[in-house]
Amino acid sequence: MTVVIGFNWPIEHDHAAAAVVDGKLVFASEEERYTRHKHSIREPPINALRQTFLYLKNRLGIKPKDVDAFAVNWDPKLFPWKRRFHAALHSLYILRGVYDIPLLNESDYYSYYVTLLTHILSGDYLAFARTLVRHVILSLGEEAPSNIRVIPVRHHLAHAASAYYFSGFSSAAVLSVDGSGEYESTVIWKVRDGSFEPILSMYTSYGSLGFLYEWTTHRLGFAGLEGPGKGMGLAPYGERSKYYDKLREFVKVDPEGDEPYAILVNGKKVKAKGWAEWDSIYTYIAENVIGGRSLNWNPRGELSKDAANVAWAVQRVTEEAVLATAKWARDHTGEDKVALAGGVALNAKANMEIHYARIFNEMFIFPAANDAGTPIGAAAYVYEHVLGGKMRHGRLTDVYLGPEYSDDEVKKVVQRSKFKAEYVGDDVGVVADLVAKGEVVAWYQGRAELGPRALGNRSIVADPTRPEYWRVVNDIKGREWWRPLAPSLLDEDKEVYFRDPVSHEFMILMFRYKDEEACRRVPVTCHVDMTARPQTVTRGQNRTWYDLIKAFKEIKGEGLIMNTSFNLAGEPLVETPQDAIRSFFVGGFDAMYMQGWLIRKR
Ligand SMILES: [Fe+2]
Repeated sequence: MTVVIGFNWPIEHDHAAAAVVDGKLVFASEEERYTRHKHSIREPPINALRQTFLYLKNRLGIKPKDVDAFAVNWDPKLFPWKRRFHAALHSLYILRGVYDIPLLNESDYYSYYVTLLTHILSGDYLAFARTLVRHVILSLGEEAPSNIRVIPVRHHLAHAASAYYFSGFSSAAVLSVDGSGEYESTVIWKVRDGSFEPILSMYTSYGSLGFLYEWTTHRLGFAGLEGPGKGMGLAPYGERSKYYDKLREFVKVDPEGDEPYAILVNGKKVKAKGWAEWDSIYTYIAENVIGGRSLNWNPRGELSKDAANVAWAVQRVTEEAVLATAKWARDHTGEDKVALAGGVALNAKANMEIHYARIFNEMFIFPAANDAGTPIGAAAYVYEHVLGGKMRHGRLTDVYLGPEYSDDEVKKVVQRSKFKAEYVGDDVGVVADLVAKGEVVAWYQGRAELGPRALGNRSIVADPTRPEYWRVVNDIKGREWWRPLAPSLLDEDKEVYFRDPVSHEFMILMFRYKDEEACRRVPVTCHVDMTARPQTVTRGQNRTWYDLIKAFKEIKGEGLIMNTSFNLAGEPLVETPQDAIRSFFVGGFDAMYMQGWLIRKR
């Protein structure tokens, strides 16, 4: 048996841990679900690693000392020395300062400081990564392996590997489009039978579509990592304007050129590897486009035409650059299938443009396209390329990869809660009844979804046919009123609603509604530009979830429900049954279905 655990290192954001056993992804979970802080910024994946070890031991009988290797999602050798040094200091500060984890085994102060200095000067932050692993193993009362092997994987290779190994393709063009890796931000790969050949690598200083989006939307008042998601929802309220024309002055798009696009400053491409230079480039562009440091508006108040037009501009430019990248990749790799990952691949609208442009015959987008997916890619890559295994190919169709909570555990939590509860088991028709009657129902079952979307195990469900529910649900969730809500629908009904759809399980690819009539039938999940970011559901993927939608269809005639993530404002997806009960108690839900239990507030 060969076991690889992947995790994010050094400490950045969207931390996760994942396990690959004999070429199969068996577990993956994000740190934010335990710390309850969205994106787990500056929070090392201590809980996620702990849960990975627990899952391996309790479900598969694999102990920490049986793990063959640990894979991390950055390669220190590729950092410029300044960043290496900074990463080591940062790790030291977080692990020793915030978490009080002893970092080195040296007994006397003198050798401790000499060793520490050696690590910092050489940028060997993997020493701290090994210590983190050891710390987690010991905290579980387990025996730590004598030699903890941590293998670094180039950041974009980790993204690319996540896209490729779970696409089911044997050969494909792979696009990793991101904020930034060690120094690059967009990489185009030609992958054949597990062999990754980088065809084009673009430096972050002139290629970061992620930073362009983040820096621009930050100036609309959105927090960095939240900006692109909110910007994508805001863009359809805007139109072509001076902001677009200004932004286009900084971005050259040329699918026939040496590179598909380039982000220019004063008409020139800057080649720089330092964070400070990147920040000043994208700050300069954002301020120039907006015409000041930031735009003054209240995202929760009246819609600002300027804000919407800025969002439209950056969304449009992103789509143009992504489309050009896809065309360029097709021409230069000769492949007819494409797999995508990287933070920008979360842009479901840009993905839709690739889909409708029919550049490739088949497309796969890794559901945790952001950095939460990189431990998986890193682990898969190390399994094949370092340990000599062979990943089990096959298209990923679900991401229910988190920890398991037994029926007994759930029952205890329900009974302790004192809410009115009845056990309905798999008979979810009664839940569909409530939804059809207009109740907003929280839905919790099984292992949590990996990635930013709720896909039927940690969801909030509502009737999509009641137009006023767009605002009602956004209110309950504490979201801005204008943000779109997504549908989950029976896979066999996708043509009823959408134009040229394909099965897509992960809500990371938008489609256009077929026509106004289709949009009018389910107004809550039809955005103002007549698009949606749906999840298509088969019974094989998630039986009770499918049955719920089917039962709703029998009552209301629509094989489609509104599905948004089960969390309170500003929080990540609920993880444990206790989280679910707490959120149900605080949130404005009418009822909750929890692993067979129907719980009512009144
Ligand atoms: Fe990334």
